[in-house]
Amino acid sequence: MADGLKWSEAFAVGHPGLDQEHRSIVDAINAIARVDPSPHPPAHLQDLLTELRGTAARHFDHENAILRHILASAETQTYSPHFLRAMSRGALAQHIDNHERDLGALETIGADANRPLHEELEHWFFSHAVKFDAHLKALFQAIHSEYPRLLAELP
Ligand SMILES: [Fe+2]
Ligand SMILES: [Fe+2]
Repeated sequence: MADGLKWSEAFAVGHPGLDQEHRSIVDAINAIARVDPSPHPPAHLQDLLTELRGTAARHFDHENAILRHILASAETQTYSPHFLRAMSRGALAQHIDNHERDLGALETIGADANRPLHEELEHWFFSHAVKFDAHLKALFQAIHSEYPRLLAELP
């Protein structure tokens, strides 16, 4: 049994729905960390993993829908240079594409991992939510300060 992840603001991107989903992913990983895998992984471990994958897949779908909405809005709206810079630093189209890769990586993590399963999952979460989604923080900050109406429109 392990302590699990403690929620940190470093896991947040500044969008309430997405941040709630990141919390659900952390909770799902912690539920797995609480399982004692010795001497044999219990049967419900597989259910917890399936639940985590479902939570992650729904989160990516939601995040993709939001990013697509922002990309589409830039076709018709004139945004400030500051906002456009935040968008291009976020590399939104590439970010959307990479979610598929992230989900594929999660699918390959199983009870036969080289290190404890929860450590593999925590590593996966850090690479998604901390390293990768960190680029979205500046974008959501720019939306909050410059285009709050867009925030209300997001799916
Ligand atoms: Fe995310
Ligand atoms: Fe993401």
